[in-house]
Amino acid sequence: MTTELITGIRELTSQADDGPRLRDAALVIEDGRIAWIGPAADAPAADRRTDVGGRAALPGWVDTHTHLVFAGDRAAEFEARMAGRRYEAGGINTTVRATRAATEEQLIGNAARLRREAEAQGTTFLETKTGYGLDLESETRSARAAAAVADVVTYLGAHLVPQGVDRRDYLDLVTGPMLAAVAPYVQYIDAFCEAGAFDVEETREVLLAGRAAGLGLRVHGNQLGFSGGVRLAVELGAASVDHCNHLEAADIDALASSSTVATLLPACDLSTREPFPPARRLLDAGANIALATNCNPGTSYTTSMPYCVATAVLQMGLTIEEAVFAATRGAARAVGREHGPDAVGSLRVGGLADLQVLDAPSVAHFAYRPGVPLTAAVWRRGVRRG
Ligand code: NIG
Repeated sequence: MTTELITGIRELTSQADDGPRLRDAALVIEDGRIAWIGPAADAPAADRRTDVGGRAALPGWVDTHTHLVFAGDRAAEFEARMAGRRYEAGGINTTVRATRAATEEQLIGNAARLRREAEAQGTTFLETKTGYGLDLESETRSARAAAAVADVVTYLGAHLVPQGVDRRDYLDLVTGPMLAAVAPYVQYIDAFCEAGAFDVEETREVLLAGRAAGLGLRVHGNQLGFSGGVRLAVELGAASVDHCNHLEAADIDALASSSTVATLLPACDLSTREPFPPARRLLDAGANIALATNCNPGTSYTTSMPYCVATAVLQMGLTIEEAVFAATRGAARAVGREHGPDAVGSLRVGGLADLQVLDAPSVAHFAYRPGVPLTAAVWRRGVRRG
């Protein structure tokens, strides 16, 4: 087995328990995993040596909220929003029509292109969802396409009741035959709990059906108003509740006393002009937060985790450390991958070699030089990408 020594790391943000930041560090990769981490001066010999020349290194981003399986775009809707129109869930129908008209190969091709785009910006672990098929055949196709491209797949048949379909019939489909058809490809179930999509009781019904089928739970909650999605997610022990723009004090308390991760989506908030979630209050209360791109053609057409990290620091009141943690190890919590042999979002001996090196001496540059491409190199499972 060949080994690779990466040296010349000026600042290593490992996110490991025993020393999150190391100066003048090196690490050794063997068989897709990290075999050694420590001061460059003590580095062992290896078959290959890569000197990154005094740059910063950190775990690859863990992007736990994307909707990459779609066709078409919604630039016109975005332009109308920038001219003052409010985002409405109904826009999803536009993407549903385009997605149904696309072939599975086209859906996989588009999603894979977006994944490559994300990886070029440091993302090494990615979740994606169904949710633009919304009929048995198209959701199943979407689930297969998602599984071909992503590390973790979430079933979002309950994204919207499609046009022309009876509500009760659709819920029966989502919790019955559609769930059975997508089950081989997915690990989580999700529902859009919001005015214009699904109410709390409908969301509960969908999530409980998913749980009975062995899936983990997620919720799109409190994006456009006080939908009750956050409280339901906590009550059901969901892995995450995503968006969280509109929170009452009781929502913050509920999150703080739970293990449910509040996944915040700053790029979406800018693109929909919703208020940012109260990230500072969530952290100060002791809640777990993650940052994700929410890449989708409607509300957040970006794959850029650096953009989300910069926004979280510059506009949401997070420190650099908090934002980087929320986009790596904090995010891993939202997909049950913080611990164990296949943990992501941290760099530790024996763990997966998923890392990024920056064209900068420190992680502060994500916010200090916002909008500047800073990714110098990415390794995923020990293999240099790009
Ligand atoms: O997470 N909020 C619900 N779903 C997506 C947007 C879907 C769309 O408008 O296409 C989101 O923002």
